[in-house]
Amino acid sequence: MDVACCDSGGNKMNLTKRKFDCLVIGAGGGGLRAALQLSQADASVGVVSKVFPTRSHTVAAQGGINAALANVLPDNWHWHMYDTIKGSDYLGDQDAIEYMCRAASNTVIELEHSGVPFSRLENGRIYQRAFGGQSQNFGGDQAARTCAAADRTGHAILHTLYQQNIHARTHFFDEYFALDLVKDEEGYILGAVAIEIETGIPLLIEAKTTLIATGGAGQLFYNNTNARINTGDGMAMALRAGIPMEDMEFFQFHPTGIAGKGMLISEGVRGEGGYLVNGEGERFMERYAPHAKDLASRDVVSRSIAIELKEGRGCGPDKDHVLLKVDHLDADIIKKRLPGIRDLSMTFAGVDPINAPIPVCPTAHYTMGGIPTNRHGQVVVPEHQGAEEPVPGLYAAGECACVSVHGANRLGGNSLLDIVVFGRAAGNHIIEYLKENRYHRPIAEESVDYALSRLARWDKKGDGESVDSIKTDLKKTMDKYCGVFRQEDVLKEGVEKVLAIEERLQHARLKDHSKIFNTARIEALELENLMDLAVATVCSALERKESRGAHSRIDYPERDDKNWLKHSLYFKEGRRLEYKPVHIKPLTVDSFPPKPRVY
Ligand code: FUM
Repeated sequence: MDVACCDSGGNKMNLTKRKFDCLVIGAGGGGLRAALQLSQADASVGVVSKVFPTRSHTVAAQGGINAALANVLPDNWHWHMYDTIKGSDYLGDQDAIEYMCRAASNTVIELEHSGVPFSRLENGRIYQRAFGGQSQNFGGDQAARTCAAADRTGHAILHTLYQQNIHARTHFFDEYFALDLVKDEEGYILGAVAIEIETGIPLLIEAKTTLIATGGAGQLFYNNTNARINTGDGMAMALRAGIPMEDMEFFQFHPTGIAGKGMLISEGVRGEGGYLVNGEGERFMERYAPHAKDLASRDVVSRSIAIELKEGRGCGPDKDHVLLKVDHLDADIIKKRLPGIRDLSMTFAGVDPINAPIPVCPTAHYTMGGIPTNRHGQVVVPEHQGAEEPVPGLYAAGECACVSVHGANRLGGNSLLDIVVFGRAAGNHIIEYLKENRYHRPIAEESVDYALSRLARWDKKGDGESVDSIKTDLKKTMDKYCGVFRQEDVLKEGVEKVLAIEERLQHARLKDHSKIFNTARIEALELENLMDLAVATVCSALERKESRGAHSRIDYPERDDKNWLKHSLYFKEGRRLEYKPVHIKPLTVDSFPPKPRVY
């Protein structure tokens, strides 16, 4: 069925229309877990993905998924909860963290029963390895909580979820790019406009509910571990629809990206016994985190490496990296538990870790902030007097969402857990919502005009500055002005630089080829998305005058719970920031009040 609408020039055109109970935007673990829940409940589900689903970034998750199964060492979901809250530097919402950690064991068993080929212990149970920030008994000995399929856990989970969705008859729009949400005057979200990448033809996907699951925005930074597709499309779409971004100042730098290249070298390497050394051959993490050492939380390890480099104790001619040693481990362990890491290291660093250490340095990895949601996946916005209201029909799950279970710093292994727990929770809530909202709401013809005008803007060819050079400038600016360590004057300059780049983007043109390829148009649209998120990130970072988790201010080195134990909310309109309280009260158990965080 077609619907008449206007393009940017006011010309009427017909837009093909499809209808679903739920539109899922993004086919990573969060989107696919939600879609599966819905399809199995006989809801009609359309999944839009800009890449073939099994190429979504979940495929790159290496080390594993956390659950207190206690297969290797004693464990308890309550200890997992404590570690996650401490890891978050007390900014995580404790009700959501409790929900996630309690659900973890069943979630992993459910994945196992759906076919995820986890590695096995001798006794046949799921293999679990040590990861950063994990402890037994509330800060005691190291725990081993991360369930792994060698070092390709995300790959195993994503492929299993995709197969299950095919079996459940989920409908996929492969290689479609979602442009913008469609909403009505009452604020209901009614679906989205997408474009088929191959043909450039737009499509209106009308849905009673829409779930954004588009992953993070690692491409904001030049040095990152992320796939090229991680351009924060869903977050930017939400911003344009008037929804604020929560806690964008908290961006995780993974301590071990391959130096100069960025590819992830899993924390699982340190979990298997690897450790870091500086240019003097010193195992320096013993100085920074005497108890947890190399398995301190990621923000702590990344800062420690950055200090070693700044103080001239790096390795190589430019002293710009440290070394990750694994050559003391049994070669069979490396081959069995870390085959992908060995491959990556040989391909991109030219080093076989069986024989020599891997050159690594901190690299942008994970967006802790995102679209504000509650633990049912409903997108929530501030209403009167601090109360929050769900945006009707809109959900978000996974890295694009901020529940917030990661607060100011995510623990390794909690990302895969987040996507499956909250993907499933969102699916369940949508099933209930659909019982009360059985019919599609009418869509006004003009409600798609904004999305189409954004598309038409990139029809222009010419000699303007290229999208690619603007993107490179933006990413290098973010690396330089909003990296591991931050301070007022540098951030202020960063805001100015990013806004100047935003202005340049207004005048950019696609290169004057005889034909404009849709992929060029998609890159331009992705850059618009990154641009909005870069502004949100630097503005939020400038305002937060304390150091907490991954946000480390040289000029405000202490955590300041009195003034800053609160979430930021950045609104695109007026580039304004508001704040909202942290949920310190869990659902059923005792809370963990903030205390000094040492490892
Ligand atoms: O280090 C890693 O394997 C990454 C895991 C994660 O980000 O959770």
